Amino acid sequence: MSTLDPPFSDHLQEDELTPDQNGDFISSLPTAGFLSQYRGFWITTRSMQGVLSLQKHFQAQETDIQMMTPPKVGTTWLKAILFAIVNRKHNLDLQKHPLLTNNPHILVPYLDLHFYNQKEVPDLTFFPSPRLFSAHLPYTLLPTSVKHSTCKIVHLYRNPKDTFVSLWHFLKNNGRTTDSFEGTFDEFCQGVSSFGPYWDHVLNYWKESLEKPQKILCLRYEELKEQPSTHLKKIAEFLECPFSSEEETKGMINDILRLCSFDYLNKLEVNKSGTTHNMKTESLFRLGEVGDWVNYLTPQMSKKLDDIFKEKFHGTGLTCYILFACLYYCQYLC
Ligand code: A3P
Repeated sequence: MSTLDPPFSDHLQEDELTPDQNGDFISSLPTAGFLSQYRGFWITTRSMQGVLSLQKHFQAQETDIQMMTPPKVGTTWLKAILFAIVNRKHNLDLQKHPLLTNNPHILVPYLDLHFYNQKEVPDLTFFPSPRLFSAHLPYTLLPTSVKHSTCKIVHLYRNPKDTFVSLWHFLKNNGRTTDSFEGTFDEFCQGVSSFGPYWDHVLNYWKESLEKPQKILCLRYEELKEQPSTHLKKIAEFLECPFSSEEETKGMINDILRLCSFDYLNKLEVNKSGTTHNMKTESLFRLGEVGDWVNYLTPQMSKKLDDIFKEKFHGTGLTCYILFACLYYCQYLC
């Protein structure tokens, strides 16, 4: 890890930077491998330009839907689900559904990597409402207009052990690390992971969702796996487009779940090869199961994560969810 003194921080705020100064500002940030430390979070350096620009320029609309997730918690899956729910009336013929020919990351683009990574400010006003966007941004780094408008935010989290194991495979498969499994684990435990510390990402949205349940919905990967139809209905209600009884009778919820399932998406040609946002598409669909961490983490590593998350989530109401998922699946698999 190399640490540099940010030369700008003493005299210039980020929102005062001209586009030409962004690069100097970014290279002045402390770094760890491919990450840059920015306002308490480890942001992938390739996202930094987009993060700065979208913080400064993005104007939320009241009807926007923002998907904000830490990496490796099931973002791709949730993108498919949200897209299918929100656009279901235009895609009644499932044989022609856009998900059959587009990776979910194309249908629900990353704001920072897709739109705001250029020097010019993009014009997103032409997008039909409701606009469906995503980013991995922690709550504290959201553009002010997102926090203050009535737009909806959907957040997803996952038990930290599976999140870490998924992250490890992703980094390896995409050539983003030469570190050992143990070294990457130690960094994760120190909070040094993409858009981490992971616990702060989860905790910040969780706390905000308790205060603003109409604005922020926090979902858990394991819950989505356990009770998918219940959660699909919950998501649709939160987004103010609930399934009608006619839609339910016609089996639309099950249709969407099947379309977005790991087994279905994973086998589509569009998700088997190529790249999206510089990620190997196939690396987004690895196993899609709960509890795979038992095959990778030693009992000591598992305990270390338990201890960290017990401490970080103490008194928040979140500990029991996280630990429940870990313990339940450990017993289940043993
Ligand atoms: P694993 O590596 O544990 O298999 P993200 O989309 O945030 O990068 O998260 C990737 C994780 O979500 C991977 O987990 C991937 O297999 C899993 N995933 C992708 N699509 C899924 C789906 N349709 N259903 C369930 N899990 C899915």
